Amino acid sequence: MTVFYADYDLDRQDSVPFDNGFLKPGELVKNPNPEMPLIDSIYTRRTSRAYADKMVSRELFQWIVSVAMNAPTACNEQQWKIVHIENRDTINDLYERGSAAFLKNVKQCFLICYNSRNDNPYWYDYIQSASAFAAFFQVVAHTVGIGSCWVGHLPNRSELKRIFKIHRHYEPVCLISYGYYRGKAKTLPRKHDASSIIMEEKFDSNDLVFASHRKRRVRLVLRYLYYKVPPVLRKKLRRYSIKFEKKFYYEKFD
Ligand SMILES: Cc1cc2nc3c(=O)[nH]c(=O)nc-3n(C[C@H](O)[C@H](O)[C@H](O)COP(=O)(O)O)c2cc1C
Repeated sequence: MTVFYADYDLDRQDSVPFDNGFLKPGELVKNPNPEMPLIDSIYTRRTSRAYADKMVSRELFQWIVSVAMNAPTACNEQQWKIVHIENRDTINDLYERGSAAFLKNVKQCFLICYNSRNDNPYWYDYIQSASAFAAFFQVVAHTVGIGSCWVGHLPNRSELKRIFKIHRHYEPVCLISYGYYRGKAKTLPRKHDASSIIMEEKFDSNDLVFASHRKRRVRLVLRYLYYKVPPVLRKKLRRYSIKFEKKFYYEKFD
């Protein structure tokens, strides 16, 4: 039976237990289901930032990467490089340098790097190609009980390039933390109807609503200055800077 968006109902799928507004993807740890319907894997995946103690094996990680490598890439160049990170000191170092706070408790993560030497830099092809990989990775990992979080809250790219000795032709695009699901996940309703974001033929600016940009500008400047501070000092400031991190998720569940 073909199920279309408007008909999709989390109560009706049987890939991931769903009860009282909460998904329980932990079931997939015991019973991985890489062949679940694609639509279920998309609707039941939610970002996860706290993971079980059990480590994901290299073999399974590599399998997920090999599936995610079927993501589209600009000109079919397939120029990803994955820097896998498990070393406690390295993850702690990333945290202390001002990365997303939840990384402090993460045991496994990786940087997606992509060759930025191509003939279409104006469209940031390398970012688009690496991002497609990241999205595929998250959806595939979910089907086998592995939750993940796409992390953009990181020190400057030049700093990451130095720490991880990334080749000058490659750029780190994002970091993905991952691990076995530990708990439940709250559903996140979509903020818009599909029909409200689709425009016909031309961009229609009539009903756009913008939030105040003052706060955003202040944060932008503070962020810029914070990551310009030498790492030694930034690490000392970490316990104060943590208060300024945006809290947009439920720490208890996500
Ligand atoms: C480009 C990008 C950057 C992100 N950076 C962070 C981050 O730094 N910290 C974090 O906790 N989540 C980060 N996320 C995850 C989002 O917060 C998450 O996808 C969003 O809250 C929606 O939740 P969902 O993935 O469960 O739909 C990022 C996601 C994307 C696509």
